[in-house]
Amino acid sequence: MKLNFIGHATFYFETEHVKAIIDPFINGNPVSKIKTSDIRNLTHIFVTHGHNDHLGDTVELAKKHNALVITNYEIASYLAEQNVSVHPMHIGGRTTFDFGDVKMTSALHGSAIQTESGLVDGGNPGGFLITIDGQSIYHAGDTGLTMDMKLLEIEHIDMALLPIGGNFTMDIRDAIRAVDFIKPKKVVPMHYNTFGLIQADPDLFKSGVKNSEVIIMSPGDHLEF
Ligand code: NI
Ligand code: MN
Repeated sequence: MKLNFIGHATFYFETEHVKAIIDPFINGNPVSKIKTSDIRNLTHIFVTHGHNDHLGDTVELAKKHNALVITNYEIASYLAEQNVSVHPMHIGGRTTFDFGDVKMTSALHGSAIQTESGLVDGGNPGGFLITIDGQSIYHAGDTGLTMDMKLLEIEHIDMALLPIGGNFTMDIRDAIRAVDFIKPKKVVPMHYNTFGLIQADPDLFKSGVKNSEVIIMSPGDHLEF
């Protein structure tokens, strides 16, 4: 699987059958090196929760590329009203798409959607466990440390994308505990140093993680796993 860190909690991944973005916060993203106009081909968009720095450019990208948006029922309903193609899911649900399996995981956070007429209910926030050809990637979304993460150990996750920035999500100390619960082969820290409130040193996270490989990605970095 090819993985590209766009910045903040925004990742692009690609296999033979899917070209997807998780949490497409791009044009307003202060650390992104690209704009939505740089994205050439997109088949799917995953949205973990309704906050602006995650829902981001979903509507524009979904319409432009005719991409299917996979998100919780409430956000899916909100997007469907804007003529976006959606596949609603919810926490704990697993389903099979033509490219692979997706399970929506729990997150401890909020999910309100900010609109011109105020906040709209975005349901419960979540994360995604995506398994393609025996390889699995877990995007935690925005979340505090949860005991539910212990349940992910049996999923044998190859790549975990975990927030470390604190204030709104897990900080480094809790993210290290999360890695211990999840036991992924590899982990990429995210959701830090984008804004003033989420400053964190990823090297401190890296030095605290014992049994997983920590890969610190900068916006624009690519890797294959
Ligand atoms: Ni959030
Ligand atoms: Mn966020």
